[in-house]
Amino acid sequence: MSTILIIDDDDQLRKSFEKLLLSEGYQVVTAASGESGLYVVKKQLPDLVVLDVRLPGMNGLETFKAIHDIAPKLQVIIMTAFGTTDTAIEATKLGAYDYVLKPFEIPEMLNLIARALDTGRFMSSPVELNATPDNLSRDAMIGRSNAMQNVYKAIGHAAPTNATVLIRGESGTGKELVARALYQHSAQAGNPFIVINCVAIPDTLLESELFGYEKGAFTGAAHRRIGKIEQAKNGTIFLDEIGDTPTHIQAKLLRLLQEKNIERLGGRESIPVNVRIIAATNRNLEKAIDNGSFREDLYYRLKVVTILLPPLRERKEDIPLLAEYVLSRHAHELKIPNPGISEEAKNQLCNYSWPGNIRELSNILQKTLIFNQGSAIDVDMINQAICESGAVSETTTEADGDDLLRRWVQRRLQKDADSDPDLFNSCVDSLSRILTSEALVMTDGNRSRASKLLGLSRPTLHSKIDKYHLQLKTTISG
Ligand SMILES: Nc1ncnc2c1ncn2[C@@H]1O[C@H](COP(=O)(O)OP(=O)(O)OP(=O)(O)O)[C@@H](O)[C@H]1O
Ligand SMILES: [Mg+2]
Repeated sequence: MSTILIIDDDDQLRKSFEKLLLSEGYQVVTAASGESGLYVVKKQLPDLVVLDVRLPGMNGLETFKAIHDIAPKLQVIIMTAFGTTDTAIEATKLGAYDYVLKPFEIPEMLNLIARALDTGRFMSSPVELNATPDNLSRDAMIGRSNAMQNVYKAIGHAAPTNATVLIRGESGTGKELVARALYQHSAQAGNPFIVINCVAIPDTLLESELFGYEKGAFTGAAHRRIGKIEQAKNGTIFLDEIGDTPTHIQAKLLRLLQEKNIERLGGRESIPVNVRIIAATNRNLEKAIDNGSFREDLYYRLKVVTILLPPLRERKEDIPLLAEYVLSRHAHELKIPNPGISEEAKNQLCNYSWPGNIRELSNILQKTLIFNQGSAIDVDMINQAICESGAVSETTTEADGDDLLRRWVQRRLQKDADSDPDLFNSCVDSLSRILTSEALVMTDGNRSRASKLLGLSRPTLHSKIDKYHLQLKTTISG
């Protein structure tokens, strides 16, 4: 669970902000001055700081600089009132993650916090390549197949060169892990690493997020804003899902790659930026070029080095080792004993085609672990989890989903009709249990968000958590 430090001298704001963050499942520490905030940073390094600019004693900018000196990878979000935006802009130039104007919109702030936390994690948690499954405290890339050995070699060659890298592979194959490994093994490992998920940000905001803007550039641009590319100066920017960027932004990215400079929106000044670009996509870019949705010239600029991640079905020999790693990791995170997995169950995992790759393998094993009663994971549990997850998997269409659900129901009717006198209710219960646990997994155990996601009231969600004993076995909070 991430810890957030709020530094603000306004008691009211501190209290209500703390309450909000606690309800979102974060741990919170507060400080009323820069000096006491610094003390907290030294004592118990938090995962994120939200810092007010106007503080008594040591001011916001001085506090930011001192925090940045002690912990350069600790992300800081600055809160500013309208009159102090210059200080906030100065802090973002010096490496603060971003700033927000007070009073802020809650969803916007929560979104910013989630992104800043991701960035901090990416920068500070190293990815171990070609790892053995027993190191659970670090993110690891597991796999001894030839295909994965080639990936490790490519990372080793490309990382120190500063060359632009395009990472390709299906969804869930580990593109993000590769991007982090490239950054961590590069000469800029101490400098900023900025992640932009090009599909997660609406098209209308992506341009200003990347390039920044000048005061008056558009209605509502009340002051200058520094974009993420400028903030990544001398560091690395990871453009995730680049295949989904709109074409006018592609043109600007091309200019950045060719001329190493950018212009803020509404600005005439050409700003030189020395930044390494790593991009990733699961799209077929060649097809996108053919249908006019991706620029060919940008494609050639991006693919100076290409790292292609193999789908899991093409490296099935890695599945048993990955399964052991993923299982121990989930057990470690959920703080429950690892029941182990039988050889037959591992073989069964190798028989499946894994359209969602390692993410899907990970989800399936997490599910078997949550509902496991302590015995080693066996073939039946694997079959059931694959069957159940197929019904709600992203990669299946609604018709496929219905079909899988129907097959699952048929199996229950054939197999359990004699042994279960309450078959109808127990099938409905299974679905309800899966829906509840999936929503909790998806929201990191946050009950407020899970109840919103399901359209249930919090008391109804609570009763389901109790009914299915989910609380005992998952790290649910909120
Ligand atoms: N080789 C690997 N060893 C262990 N875990 C892995 C490996 N590759 C990926 N994972 C895990 O699988 C999950 C998905 O990986 P990641 O997010 O990097 O995929 P992705 O290719 O970026 O997918 P998407 O295109 O959907 O964004 C993560 O939890 C990651 O830690
Ligand atoms: Mg990804």
